[in-house]
Amino acid sequence: MEIRKIGVVGCGLMGSGIAQVAAMAGYDTVVLEVSQELLDKGRASIDRSLAKFVEKGELSAEQKAQVVARLRPTLKLQDLADRDLVIEAVVENLELKRELFADLDRIVKAEALLASNTSSLSITELMTATRRAPRFLGLHFFNPVPLMKLVEVVKTVVTEPEAVQLGLDFARRLGKTPILTTDRAGFIVNRLLVPYLLDAIRAFEEGFGTIEDIDQGMKLGCNHPMGPFTLMDFVGIETTCSIAEILFDEYREKRFAPPPLLKRMVLAGMYGRKSGKGFYDYSDPKNPKMNKLLEWRG
Ligand code: 3HC
Repeated sequence: MEIRKIGVVGCGLMGSGIAQVAAMAGYDTVVLEVSQELLDKGRASIDRSLAKFVEKGELSAEQKAQVVARLRPTLKLQDLADRDLVIEAVVENLELKRELFADLDRIVKAEALLASNTSSLSITELMTATRRAPRFLGLHFFNPVPLMKLVEVVKTVVTEPEAVQLGLDFARRLGKTPILTTDRAGFIVNRLLVPYLLDAIRAFEEGFGTIEDIDQGMKLGCNHPMGPFTLMDFVGIETTCSIAEILFDEYREKRFAPPPLLKRMVLAGMYGRKSGKGFYDYSDPKNPKMNKLLEWRG
């Protein structure tokens, strides 16, 4: 089997990025959303990203137009019926994803692969909503998808070797480097990254340094592109917290437990960059300042 036609479900931050890189790699790509408004928002973000590649001279205006032409936005699930691979990138809600996969399983042709971009939910649990367990896998991309080189290819105990190979080949054709992992919460990257991020909050609360100094420490001392607080704001405070809850639930180890400050920030709607406030205040997005509210932690 050869993968030629791609379907992406969800045109948010991750879905739009995945659809974009698939179309950039030459795949005929259909991207599904639940409303025209969300579809337009996703398309606008793809357009902005492609424009950056044109600005940098990595893509010509003509190539950009070809990429856009290969991308077909839709509101109809039925439009995914002829796809060879459908990647789900909707919100991290187990029940919602299971319902979606049950619908996809009914509609998408039998030999096609179904994949989830979930960062922490169990691929096996999603797979059991379908009748094609051998052709079900995880394809976990990283944010921002057009720039990040990694894809985690996640196999379950029943994913067939051909499906794994197709997943690895697909990631390579996108210009990404795949790594293979098994279905354990967090896979490889979040299993290591999340305890580190949570520990940064604990270090802050224990008085090791300010948010800014801890960020500078990891940026300049370890050459990380972003310090842990900037990264949590970038990923989303509620996303980080929900991944931590899932990891804690799976392993029952303290290092995965979200610290109270993270949970309170979620309750207070401080979601990070997307909501304008997280560990930093983004009132001036180009010049974020430490969130003054956290100087005295209520
Ligand atoms: N599309 C195209 N180009 C983009 C872009 C996008 N979406 N976003 C940024 N760029 C371009 C910019 O235009 C800029 O181009 P230039 O060099 O010509 O000016 C260049 O990329 C660098 O961008 P910025 O100057 O805005 O900022 P940075 O130099 O800080 O780079 C970054 C941005 C690549 C995001 C970098 O900070 C980084 O690598 N950060 C870490 C990201 C990370 O760790 N991601 C993983 C998160 S965890 C995850 O996703 C897993 C999930 O399960 C939680």
